[in-house]
Amino acid sequence: MTTAEIRAKYLKFFIGKPRNHKEISPAPLVPENDPTTLFTSSGMQQLVPYLTGENHPEGKRLVDVQPSIRLQDIDEVGDNRHTTFFEMLGNWSLGDYFKAEQLPWVWEFFTKELGLDGNRLYVSCFEGNKEVPRDTESAKIWKKIRVPEDHIFFYGVKENWWSRSGPPNKMPVGEIGGPDSEIFYEFTQVKHDPKFGEKCHPNCECGRFLEIGNSVFIQYQKTKEGLKELSQKNVDFGGGLERIAAAMNDDPDVFKIDAFVLLIKKISSVTGKAYKRNETSMRIIADHMRAANMIIREGVEPSNKQQGYVLRRLIRRSALKVRDLKGKLVGGDLSLNFESDIAKVIEDEVGRFSISLEKGMKQIEKIDSVDSKKAFDLYQTYGFPFEVTQEIFADKGQKIDKDKFQKELEMHQEKSRSASAGKFKGGLADSSEATKKLHTVTHLLHAALRSILGDHVSQKGSNITSDRLRFDFSHKEKLNEDEIKKVEVLINKEIDKDLEVTSETMTLDEAKDAGALAFFGHKYDELVKVYSIGKFSKEVCGGPHVKRLSEIKGHVRINKEESVSSGVRRIYAVIEK
Ligand code: ALA
Repeated sequence: MTTAEIRAKYLKFFIGKPRNHKEISPAPLVPENDPTTLFTSSGMQQLVPYLTGENHPEGKRLVDVQPSIRLQDIDEVGDNRHTTFFEMLGNWSLGDYFKAEQLPWVWEFFTKELGLDGNRLYVSCFEGNKEVPRDTESAKIWKKIRVPEDHIFFYGVKENWWSRSGPPNKMPVGEIGGPDSEIFYEFTQVKHDPKFGEKCHPNCECGRFLEIGNSVFIQYQKTKEGLKELSQKNVDFGGGLERIAAAMNDDPDVFKIDAFVLLIKKISSVTGKAYKRNETSMRIIADHMRAANMIIREGVEPSNKQQGYVLRRLIRRSALKVRDLKGKLVGGDLSLNFESDIAKVIEDEVGRFSISLEKGMKQIEKIDSVDSKKAFDLYQTYGFPFEVTQEIFADKGQKIDKDKFQKELEMHQEKSRSASAGKFKGGLADSSEATKKLHTVTHLLHAALRSILGDHVSQKGSNITSDRLRFDFSHKEKLNEDEIKKVEVLINKEIDKDLEVTSETMTLDEAKDAGALAFFGHKYDELVKVYSIGKFSKEVCGGPHVKRLSEIKGHVRINKEESVSSGVRRIYAVIEK
């Protein structure tokens, strides 16, 4: 079965009776208005307000297929099952059905719709801890649908608890999560490797078992005092499309599924090498370039910042792997089968890297005696993977201690992981109020710009962090000081009126008829939410927003206006107390 067929079957299964889910549009891969993450990494991310009580315009049962990127898995890519980019099959109950419906449905989907052999499936449940009881309820449901007792395993918070930031002790105040129940497929042809422990079990890393689905019971929120039950019990299911396809093939190599076959073929032809015996490098190139293609599609270009830096790293690492496989790198090597504008971005980046690549090589020539620190610097500064450095120095008769290199790497990762945890904390939990205020200001700004400059102004993009907003809009000329002042005065006059912010649900056509602004080029669901700020502004938007403008607690100041591209201007604005 192809990935397209699995995707279609999944949507049909959950949309159909008696499950009656509504299909929603997946979120963009690069989230808008979310300073806390670089990439969308799970389907639930766009649904947080609705998992905590806001009404979703499409109802309480939702389904979608969410393109996702998980960078935490980047070092695992090269084995037969990890990828950075993947598609997540998702279904949600927003305070509606719960375990008794979800678990049998997922089982039915895997065994009846896809025809996976139930004897090859294993499940896991949460064993409980001080705050949350053992999930005997899920285990009972599994038993009732005839999952044999020896296929049901219990694990602790490390394996069977899900939140965006991991186990309960890592969740910042405000974060939601809960115990989960996972499904694994067993590849009986893979022999257990005792290196990973005496006995094999579903969460063993040896590769005999592959997790293909996870039902999270989002029913808790972290508070200063610990975990508190949410007012509603939610289900958040995620299934990795690529892994499910591998289970359907009964082949543990995810890179053999249809979504990768053509890429691997092309990489083989570019490098003149067979996949067999070159699996690791080719998997890295295939995964990284597939992810790069999706990131470039969202308008990101390689750079040294944020998403652009990730893109750069993916392309450069792949470039080294290609060079590694065939000894020489050409700018077009990595354009593979991608569309011409995407291929161009890749070729330009490979061209730029060729320069630092050669510099790195010169650096290597200067090193008389290599150690783990120097190997790490080469990895860090010039993007040389450890294996490449190791090979180069092996030719010179020198060895590098891999464990020490690993320690350097872990130290570095530890540093950047705290950095990102801090960012998460500061961004989402503590500043969601700040983000919400700036989001409302974005609507005020849009309306004010149209009022002062004319109706040709329309939003082209927006990005909000906890301390400023960035807003792109169509307009040809630079704004003069007088225009900027007028926009500020108009917004602040409306804030002083303490207008009420209200929302209604309607069809997209009704919203347009009502004069609501919609973000051109954006894919909307059939039913949309329309936010109005008094009579001043009306926009199609998912929210959330402040309830009254007095909650903004300050005035808006535009502190920068610049050009983005021909006919598009950019404004940065802040709230001043
Ligand atoms: N949100 C859950 C996950 O990402 C389903 O695994």
